Amino acid sequence: MSKKILIAGIILTCSLFSCQSQDEEKQMVEKKLFGKLAGGEEVYEYKLKNSAGAEVKIINYGATVVSLMMPDRNGKIEDVVLGYDSLEGYVNDKSYFGSIVGRYGNRIDKGKFKLDGKEYHLTLNDGENHLHGGTLGFNKALWNVDSATSSDNGSSITMSYLSKDGEEGYPGNVKLTVVYELNNDNELSINYTGTTDKPTILNPTHHSYFNLTGDPNNTILDHELMIDSDNITPVKKGLIPTGKFSTVENTPMDFSRGVRIGEFINADYAQIKLGFGYDHNWVLNKHQGLQSKVATVYEPKSGRVLEVFTDQPGMQFYSGNFLDGTVKGKNGVVYKHRTGFCLEAQNYPDSPNHSNFPSARLEPGQTYRQTTVYRFAVK
Ligand code: GLA
Repeated sequence: MSKKILIAGIILTCSLFSCQSQDEEKQMVEKKLFGKLAGGEEVYEYKLKNSAGAEVKIINYGATVVSLMMPDRNGKIEDVVLGYDSLEGYVNDKSYFGSIVGRYGNRIDKGKFKLDGKEYHLTLNDGENHLHGGTLGFNKALWNVDSATSSDNGSSITMSYLSKDGEEGYPGNVKLTVVYELNNDNELSINYTGTTDKPTILNPTHHSYFNLTGDPNNTILDHELMIDSDNITPVKKGLIPTGKFSTVENTPMDFSRGVRIGEFINADYAQIKLGFGYDHNWVLNKHQGLQSKVATVYEPKSGRVLEVFTDQPGMQFYSGNFLDGTVKGKNGVVYKHRTGFCLEAQNYPDSPNHSNFPSARLEPGQTYRQTTVYRFAVK
């Protein structure tokens, strides 16, 4: 009798921690020490694999994607994101490589906003403005790893972070949970849920820099980009939205039919000049989640294709304009100008200061939700 209980116990334990057969072993989530923070806290790297040979490595510092291995049209698997080899790189990073940013992704004018008549003042970390949650935003936090599991359809990791009332000037204790999943269809999905105990604002996003050539020595200028959008929220100096909408028609901002990123990136056009290239929010025509493909990127040499799906109303397309050859990344590669691009699904920048933009307000009892999927394929 006790033997039976013992065997049943072993089977149960093995299935809970997915530690059995060789087939399943291929998909196991591998965990290893990535580094230690100054205070001695350990940061771990989790490797999620799928049956197609793709894999993503994620660390619990900043809930950061540190590498993403995807096949090209000949099946060659290469890393398609920028990042660092060591934890020190991420601790000192100012480019937000691969991380979850927040509480508010993108800029808030002068770091000020009002909720119920009260004015809040956020950390100013981008000239006179607030950017990506401040100096100690979600990208600089040590996240709790709630679970890391594999199933027949891929692997996933769930991480959470409790951002304390007053952190970087934001009201309310906010708990954000992020689930990264890599499935067998080469889709990396990111699911966010957030709650608060006081009215606040929440607008996290993901900040991977992609380079689909698989070689970050190449620029991203030959990638072809389609964004399903007819309007941007134009910016003034400091990349702060004016609060207006402007049509992309007949402008260098028109990606609705697909165009080489480099085609008009240096155009003599006010928005391009203000952004030092592309660094704007596109107003998405559709944003119903998995039914809504909002962007497609195609890299002709490798044949890699990246499709983005989201339920967010906007997407910041940033063409790596601030990469200037001063940052040394993975394998000692120095990241030159425009060698990575970001597609950051989110609410519009500075929405708390524009009543005509979708609201980023979160109430106690409500749950913030976001689903964004980066799907990889070849052509
Ligand atoms: C975002 C911003 C850019 C820049 C990068 C990080 O994409 O819109 O202006 O700050 O992050 O360098």
